[in-house]
Amino acid sequence: MEDKKILLEGLKNDSMSCERCGLCRGRHNVVFGVGNPEAEVMFIGEGPGEQEDLKGEPFVGKAGILLDKMLTAIDLDRNKNIYIANIVKCRPPQNRDPQPEEQELCIAWLRRQFAIIRPKIIVCLGRIAAARIIKPDIRIKREHGQIFNKGGVIMMPVLHPAALLRNPSDKPGAFEDFLRLQQLINENCEHTYEDQSK
Ligand code: URA
Repeated sequence: MEDKKILLEGLKNDSMSCERCGLCRGRHNVVFGVGNPEAEVMFIGEGPGEQEDLKGEPFVGKAGILLDKMLTAIDLDRNKNIYIANIVKCRPPQNRDPQPEEQELCIAWLRRQFAIIRPKIIVCLGRIAAARIIKPDIRIKREHGQIFNKGGVIMMPVLHPAALLRNPSDKPGAFEDFLRLQQLINENCEHTYEDQSK
């Protein structure tokens, strides 16, 4: 436990001074990630928005509030039994999509987070994360909730919570994906739901 925590803290410290791409110029904070270093389930979003940039934590704006509600519904909690990070760690201006070269330059941080945490399940929040992590030609509207296996890691793309705020009629389908995720966790994870009671 301590090992992963210490390794992640070291990596986080290194990332604080990152100037690999131009996004560093507009940032208030590097948004490294949050959660349990021992998590078996890792959620990956695209990049920080305004609130995240100000607070230095992923998914703390409106989309994050919805995400937390959906997580709570299946007994997941960012402070207990999952880990959340983004493809890019600094806010793209005006919340535009992170450009491919920004993603390319930043993803080394995520790879190192992944190498330390070694999650069993990765949930990609939205098209940008799913295209980068699962497959470049992902059709998120059609393929959300499907289960992929890459190198022994189970991966599921889901609709981005910000997209659900824009299109509330998609919420029931998104909730079904979370129920499928809960089942996947029960089938494949050893301590995710035990951490919750601690
Ligand atoms: N959207 C994302 O993809 N990530 C965040 O951290 C916040 C909003």
